[in-house]
Amino acid sequence: MAVNASSAVPMNPVDIASHGPVIPVIVIDCVADALPLAEALLAGGVKVLEVTLRTAAGLPAIEAIARNLPEAVVGVGTVLNADDARRASEAGARFAVSPGYTFEVGSACKRLDLPLLPGVATSSEIMAALADGFSFLKFFPAEAAGAIPLLKAWASPFGQVSFCPTGGITQATAPHYLALPNVRCVGGSWLTPADAVRAGDWARITQLARAAQGLRGGS
Ligand code: 3PG
Repeated sequence: MAVNASSAVPMNPVDIASHGPVIPVIVIDCVADALPLAEALLAGGVKVLEVTLRTAAGLPAIEAIARNLPEAVVGVGTVLNADDARRASEAGARFAVSPGYTFEVGSACKRLDLPLLPGVATSSEIMAALADGFSFLKFFPAEAAGAIPLLKAWASPFGQVSFCPTGGITQATAPHYLALPNVRCVGGSWLTPADAVRAGDWARITQLARAAQGLRGGS
């Protein structure tokens, strides 16, 4: 059964970045970890949570967070096709993130009123996303692609575009991205290290969330 999102009015995609400078990219192996993990992030001031579909526990984790923690803004990551977007929306996801951009994913999210942060890594991909109405984009994979000089170079031809770089970013390197005027926020998995989740070390996750939330806010 579909979960009612806490807001019937779809967010502006830019709102995803309005709650803080870092979006945690979460990979959940065990559904039972979803609520304590989300609560640990909330306790550190991080309320926008991207739960990826990389594991079977991803979708039920989104559903558990959407049902039980209305103060969280839970979204779905690793959306690869229209069906992923639909299932996540039914589970209560309030936004979607995709590693790349396809017309199929863009159209599905529009139909579902699901704000989408589509992934790009080239000028042509930016142009395709822009042509379909998306101007707040994920840059993935940031570190592997050498994102900082690219983001600087794109500021002029794509002045209307802003970015959320992800992929290989850490607490130490995040400020280099956040200093760029066309970067609203960054994403990363460093807030939820697999060993901390396995050990149920929620205090450590709260500490990492608090430190991330203390980085420069999105513009
Ligand atoms: C993503 O999907 O955004 C990235 O896999 C996150 O990258 P990281 O695990 O290197 O932070």
